[in-house]
Amino acid sequence: MKAGVFLMRVAVVGAGYVGLVSGICFAAQGKQVTCIDVNKEKIVSLQQGICTIFEPKLGELLIEQLATQRIRFVYEWPDKLDIDLVMIGVGTPSRPDGSADLSNVFAVVLELASRLKSGVVICTKSTVPVGTGEAIKQLLSEMGRDDLHVTSAPEFLREGSAVEDTLRPSRLIFGAESQEGFQTLRELYGSTDAPIIECDRRTAEMIKYASNAFLATKISFINEIANICDLVNTDVSLVAKGMGYDTRIGESFLRAGLGYGGSCFPKDTRALVNIAGELDYDFKLLKAVIEINSHQRLLPLRQLREWYEDLKDKIIVLYGIAFKPGTDDTRETPALELVKALIEEGAHVRLCDPVVKRFVIPEIGEMSVMDDAILASKGAHAIILVTEWREFIELDWKLLRTQTESPFLFDGRNVLDPKIIADAGFILSSIGRATTRVPMGVV
Ligand code: NAD
Ligand code: UGA
Repeated sequence: MKAGVFLMRVAVVGAGYVGLVSGICFAAQGKQVTCIDVNKEKIVSLQQGICTIFEPKLGELLIEQLATQRIRFVYEWPDKLDIDLVMIGVGTPSRPDGSADLSNVFAVVLELASRLKSGVVICTKSTVPVGTGEAIKQLLSEMGRDDLHVTSAPEFLREGSAVEDTLRPSRLIFGAESQEGFQTLRELYGSTDAPIIECDRRTAEMIKYASNAFLATKISFINEIANICDLVNTDVSLVAKGMGYDTRIGESFLRAGLGYGGSCFPKDTRALVNIAGELDYDFKLLKAVIEINSHQRLLPLRQLREWYEDLKDKIIVLYGIAFKPGTDDTRETPALELVKALIEEGAHVRLCDPVVKRFVIPEIGEMSVMDDAILASKGAHAIILVTEWREFIELDWKLLRTQTESPFLFDGRNVLDPKIIADAGFILSSIGRATTRVPMGVV
């Protein structure tokens, strides 16, 4: 019987949203974990029990698991890694042409080749194009390491509920080409009730992209419906509710708004278009999904242009910089394009978020982020709610109205109660809820 059955030793490479959460949860499930990241500052914080990302329950679990000594964090590769399985969770960002940049993944494989004993299972958790597992196998083979098992177990966690999703996954996908590969993955997730699909590596890699692309498609679809609802004077929230009761459609991911952001949907949809394009397949539907999403983000700007002749020197306050509530992640946040466009039109942009502390836009520099919405809104000519943090929904809107110069309020997530907002003296504009739309030309 393998030693790993009793105390599985796991290395996780990359201590970001996926790697850190996976590593800490594996430790909580009794595995012995080494978490490796090249970012020294991150690792030193983690060694001290300071959680480097905002993620519910993660900070407490980190402290607990450090105390059990089942997890350790290192920024330098140990000479040898005495482990049963290594999970790769490094970033796979977009290249300028939309394809996934795999340089981090291959850099890790090069490090692993000289450090692993025979029979170890390498598992990619990072989202990687179809065929990456084969390319890793090929690289290892060229280095004389045909004795390692290369597998794929794509990750489906959502930021904001990453711990919960990791401990209770919706499903597990194991892509492998050897029985040892499947067996070690089964042992890793031994205690789960989640449905498991065992398949070849390429299928596992494809399932991940297809899942994210489908969810992004649902969002762009409902946003198109919302834009039509505006024209035909109906409420998209009720339309989505009515659709969602049909179990074939389902209610989730039908919230109209300023579109999807984050570190995954934008990059993964671009990567899948690129994967198809490389094979001379024109993925028209997904291209449209991406285009609709870019268009959606700028809806408040179009509304503002009808409200004010000129945005020069107007104070515009954005509520919410995180790409969604429950996270401090601002990667590809819907706020980004909006901020850039407003600044380009000469507006003074103020940012407010309960969790995000700094926001850097490469072309503009670092922008300060306030956490007090009332203070941030003093003298405002417009407020745009970008992220539906509870802290914003529950604001004292009457008090807020006493601070703002103008009653313009754009609810980019359809979460504010039109009656409360109207009673407070704001004129509310939202997405696909035509009844509460800003009357054009009113100042
Ligand atoms: P992240 O940027 O938060 O973390 C990646 C970490 O990898 C960083 O800390 C970085 O320093 C480290 N790293 C980079 N190169 C390294 C190397 N050569 N050696 C060691 N460490 C290295 O990224 P993330 O959000 O955790 O995403 C990681 C992967 O998981 C991506 O492929 C992403 O698409 C996928 N994914 C992410 C999520 C999510 O919700 N964030 C969900 C599912 C899948
Ligand atoms: C998403 C997927 O939900 C995860 O399953 C996947 O693992 C992850 O991407 C990934 O591959 O990284 P995440 O990006 O954390 O997770 O967040 P979601 O909750 O999916 O939201 C993504 C974006 O869509 C957010 O900007 C959110 O505001 C937007 N959204 C979501 C809508 O506009 N409408 C909706 O109905 C739902």
